[in-house]
Amino acid sequence: MNLWQQQPSDPKPAIFLDRDGTLIEDVGYLGDPEKIRVYPDTVSALRLLADRYLFFIVTNQSGVAKGELSLEEVDRVNARLGDILDERGIHINRWYVCPHSREENCACAKPSPLFLKQAARKYGVDLKKSFILGDHPSDVYTGDAVGTCGLYVMTGHGSRHIHELDPGRIVFHTLYDAALWIKDHPGHVEDLEKSVDQGAEVLRRGGLTVFPTETVYGLGADALNAGAVNKIFEAKGRPHSDPLIVHVADPADVDTLVEEVSAKARLLMNRFWPGPLTLVLKKSPDVPDIVSASSPTVAVRMPAHPLARKLIAAAGCPVAAPSANLFGKTSPTTADHVRMQLEGRYDALIDGGACRVGVESTVLSLTGPRPGLLRPGGISREALEDTIGQVDVPGELSPGDRAGESPGMLPSHYAPGTPFLLVEDASVYAGDKDTGIILFTSPSIAYKGVIRVLSRDGSTAEAASNLYRVMRELDEYGLKRIVAEPLPSDGAGAAVNDRMTRAAARGAKSVVS
Ligand code: TXA
Ligand code: MG
Repeated sequence: MNLWQQQPSDPKPAIFLDRDGTLIEDVGYLGDPEKIRVYPDTVSALRLLADRYLFFIVTNQSGVAKGELSLEEVDRVNARLGDILDERGIHINRWYVCPHSREENCACAKPSPLFLKQAARKYGVDLKKSFILGDHPSDVYTGDAVGTCGLYVMTGHGSRHIHELDPGRIVFHTLYDAALWIKDHPGHVEDLEKSVDQGAEVLRRGGLTVFPTETVYGLGADALNAGAVNKIFEAKGRPHSDPLIVHVADPADVDTLVEEVSAKARLLMNRFWPGPLTLVLKKSPDVPDIVSASSPTVAVRMPAHPLARKLIAAAGCPVAAPSANLFGKTSPTTADHVRMQLEGRYDALIDGGACRVGVESTVLSLTGPRPGLLRPGGISREALEDTIGQVDVPGELSPGDRAGESPGMLPSHYAPGTPFLLVEDASVYAGDKDTGIILFTSPSIAYKGVIRVLSRDGSTAEAASNLYRVMRELDEYGLKRIVAEPLPSDGAGAAVNDRMTRAAARGAKSVVS
């Protein structure tokens, strides 16, 4: 080794953290240390990483430029938060504050990596082994120019701004989830590439690979290998009467799977692919009967999640995949949810963080005289009709009525373990501490039980992305019951109501174990 090139000490990896909405609640311009609200998982998340990483805060405080805050106030808040963290064994090496407003075009506001470069020089940080975390797209992009991996958290303003975030970025529900992921992927991009390669190799050999999509995690097998597909049914305990969706990396890959791509199908693929829309078309003889439950049709979809498409392309085959849960249980929106249900039943797992859409794809049949919506999902009926005209919605009948046509649409398909009720007015249960409550937006009265709000801003898309996580969380409390109020049925609301109606059907006519 050339001694002259040796560094004084080994460069160290670091975690750069946004402050508001990432470590502490975002309460607007924060000048009063008394108003600091540290998120409940902040300390435990940082503890997971403290032995390997240096910590830095990188925060834009445009309130200073706007005259809403003084720099002294910002410093006081930072000092107090530093004390709070120090007392719990977490040391922040340096607080970097940009006090300018957007209009000033300064060199230090995120997504400029100026502070990262300064930390690299002063503290010997290895930026290529480091991470930057935050609840705004500009946090994530701050690492791009210097090779630092940006990770997005859906706390703070995260769930509100997620639609502005490039679809290739990895997102997490909480800082703790992000910390767990970092522990498993110290080499970030390289580690992910390795796990995609391994997953593709498993698929080629006829094994099962769990992978993220933008809707929920999928349990995949080579769709053209009947033996491999059979393993999916065994792993999930899924009856063979329930057909699978075949995932492709490119619209052209559909041609060999179906008899014909109709004009309507083409329009829909052009507009919504890659994305959460599954099309049911007449199948070609190349698709094994086990995939389609011996029906003459096949469901196809091109997922938006880049890791899913990389996996499918690397495997070189279409990938049959249902949601990666035990049959009849809630669909997983994180890799941890998958592990909890299916550990030991698959050969590889690609952990791509949280699924953004959070409910399964819309399933649309194009095999009958008129398009039929078999499952509401990530793409709304209005958006479909905007593209191809009228769409029949058999789901407007009671759930299960169209079970013959879409065999997976059994009444209680998306059930948590705790009894689940869908009610017009949850306030009836306000006095019961053993009731879990799921509300669309913030409550106007006090509840004694455990309450979860799907979207403080009243966004149905945000509600969908939170639904399964919230159902799982409440399920773990061992409550007497969970009650939920339906959402307005526009946008993603229809899909959320559909999943909640099915969860509520459990017990009434239970067809799953
Ligand atoms: O978002 C999604 O669609 C996720 C991710 C992994 O892509 N996948 C998913 O798959 O939800 P699964 O198997 O849990 O649900 C597939 C649905 C079922 O309701 C099934 O009955 C229906 O699609 N389906 C599949 N093939 C069909 C066919 N040939 N005709 C009618 N319905 C079909
Ligand atoms: Mg499923």
